[in-house]
Amino acid sequence: MSKKDIDRIVELRELIHSYNTQYYIHSISLVSDYEFDQLLKELEELEIKYPELYDANSPTKRVGGDITKSFETVLHKYPMLSLSNSYSKDDIADFDQRVKKIIDVPLTYICELKYDGVAISIIYKNGNLVKAITRGDGTQGEDVTNNVRTISSIPLVLNGDYPENLEVRGEIMYSKSVFKELNQNREKQGLALFSNPRNSASGTLKLQDSSIVAKRKLDCFIYAVYLDNHKLNSLFLQYNYLAQFGFKIPSVEDKYVEQVNDVSGIMNFINYWEERKEDLPFEIDGIVIKVNEIDIQKEIGNTSKSPRWAIAYKYKAVQVSTVLEDIVYQVGRTGAITPVANLKAVEISGTIVKRASVHNADQIEKLDLRINDIVFVEKGGEIIPKITGVDHSKRNANSSKFVFSSKCPECSSELVRDEGEAHHYCLNSNLCPPQIKGKIIHFIGRKQLNIDGIGQETIEQLYNEKLIENVADLFALKKQDLLPLERMAEKSAENIINGIQQSKSAPFHKVLFGLGIRYVGETVAKKLTSYFKDINQLRSSNFEELCSIEEVGDKIAESIVQYFSVDYNNKIIDLLLENGLNMTSDISENILKSTILENKKIVISGTFKNISRDELKKAIEINGGKNSSSVSKSTDILIAGENMGPSKLEKAEKFKVSIMNENEFLKLISEENSNEDSKQYQQGELF
Ligand code: IVH
Repeated sequence: MSKKDIDRIVELRELIHSYNTQYYIHSISLVSDYEFDQLLKELEELEIKYPELYDANSPTKRVGGDITKSFETVLHKYPMLSLSNSYSKDDIADFDQRVKKIIDVPLTYICELKYDGVAISIIYKNGNLVKAITRGDGTQGEDVTNNVRTISSIPLVLNGDYPENLEVRGEIMYSKSVFKELNQNREKQGLALFSNPRNSASGTLKLQDSSIVAKRKLDCFIYAVYLDNHKLNSLFLQYNYLAQFGFKIPSVEDKYVEQVNDVSGIMNFINYWEERKEDLPFEIDGIVIKVNEIDIQKEIGNTSKSPRWAIAYKYKAVQVSTVLEDIVYQVGRTGAITPVANLKAVEISGTIVKRASVHNADQIEKLDLRINDIVFVEKGGEIIPKITGVDHSKRNANSSKFVFSSKCPECSSELVRDEGEAHHYCLNSNLCPPQIKGKIIHFIGRKQLNIDGIGQETIEQLYNEKLIENVADLFALKKQDLLPLERMAEKSAENIINGIQQSKSAPFHKVLFGLGIRYVGETVAKKLTSYFKDINQLRSSNFEELCSIEEVGDKIAESIVQYFSVDYNNKIIDLLLENGLNMTSDISENILKSTILENKKIVISGTFKNISRDELKKAIEINGGKNSSSVSKSTDILIAGENMGPSKLEKAEKFKVSIMNENEFLKLISEENSNEDSKQYQQGELF
């Protein structure tokens, strides 16, 4: 190892960190992009040469690359509280009174912006970022360190005279321009648009691949610090203290933060930003008011949910009025019909709005929307604004009630609305074009088959060119089929074909989720695939058996049975199987362990000490038994837990069903399995 190289690594890391801070925190470019890239490249090469000098906080790590399969849950050292809300000057005056009632000493307030993003807690040890945790439930959150390391405005290594231990809290968010660019790119790729910067920031932070996070250009403002021995007695001093380490803190010059003396100072700040918030480069959803003095904050204390020394002030959503020109219908992949309002174009907070969501027929009824009404439109955090009311004073006397369509706008089938359902549905699922396309788009989605290189637009093209009509057709596609498509380059076509081939290794639960069975989301799909050995077992199951699975209720069971009763659906599944898709559960414990319970119908009731209900059900299954939910004369065994329903017990006695407690049952099956296994059953570890 050459000393010169080692010194150069240290030097480059420091240099690049400092250029980063200048650029991302102070908006100063000290070097050209080219020079910066050269330095980074030099460092990368040296780090490859000396892997033993690995540093998780090297500036080269900003590009990400670490994959987090599942985010570990971590306890917060200090709970992550939320803020109580206020909406008026009176609420603010009440807050001031409450504070002064608890402690009657002179105090000041800090007013700052309430950034609309996701809270994060970042921990530093000896100046090095060691952990970043999401808020979670406030007590424990998820470890998203790999992803947070890629956010340029968060220092990986601190400057200045930092303390040994430091924990800061802040808000991770998208700037308006980055968010806009992100959605423009998604639109180009035919991907569904993100609805608002907050939700997408939260989603991005949970991506498994940190290199994608790195490309997304998230930003972060810091608004709180926790120090072991704090000597700084005001938030204002704390902010200055944090700034020297390289954190992005709210700027006094831009008036993002201000120290005020009383309610009138607070109201001035609120009014100032009410008028200007649309011009900010990022979204805010209000103002935060905090007692400035730390010792007074401590005296005032917290409730279990929020500090008594701080409050959020929320701005009312901007509202405008315009003409409701028409109500049209969109058909989703499940056949659900969503009415959409076409509006006379109107500007809300700098964006032109022509459409608004109206959710469903009930909403139309509730608001009594009529064509040509003057309606109030509001834009909250969401991209799609909503209609909040009608200006009745301007209603045309001849207007008539809006009648919801009885036919599908796409395929003209009769629409159905089941009792208790919010939506009307088109049931022509396998022939109605938007449903067909929607199903295929769902199938290729990130959480389903995750087919790389292919998006909504390509699916539309392929469908329109009659190259695909269902999900199984994807697997028959060849590169030559794709090349004639508009804007399809050779490389893209290759990527798509490779992506389709690779998707064959997706686990069973993803394929099942991808089939788009109504009510079978990601979680239910996982439940089903951990219960059933393969798709054939699932499709031959009945309503009763499905209902016996935890988290599978009547509605889901009915939908599954209905799905598999359609020949077309079974044909598609057979084709997918022929194409090598994985529809077998990879959980080895699903393999039959014994046949001791063969043909036995078993009912579980109550709660158990040594084994969960799910584990018991699986134990029945893998020993050849059948789970059922109600006791009848054909029931063989009732496994009785604590607090079981008396009627089940009565019936079991009446039908002379064998009744066992959990231990008796476990003993019965463990006699058949090895001793080791039975021990594991007792500890609930086998599954
Ligand atoms: S202080 C003890 N300051 O708002 C409470 N929070 O409902 C510490 N937020 O989850 C919060 N901007 O993520 C504080 N300037 C700001 C904030 C802010 C946004 C978020 C924060 C928190 C939520 C509170």
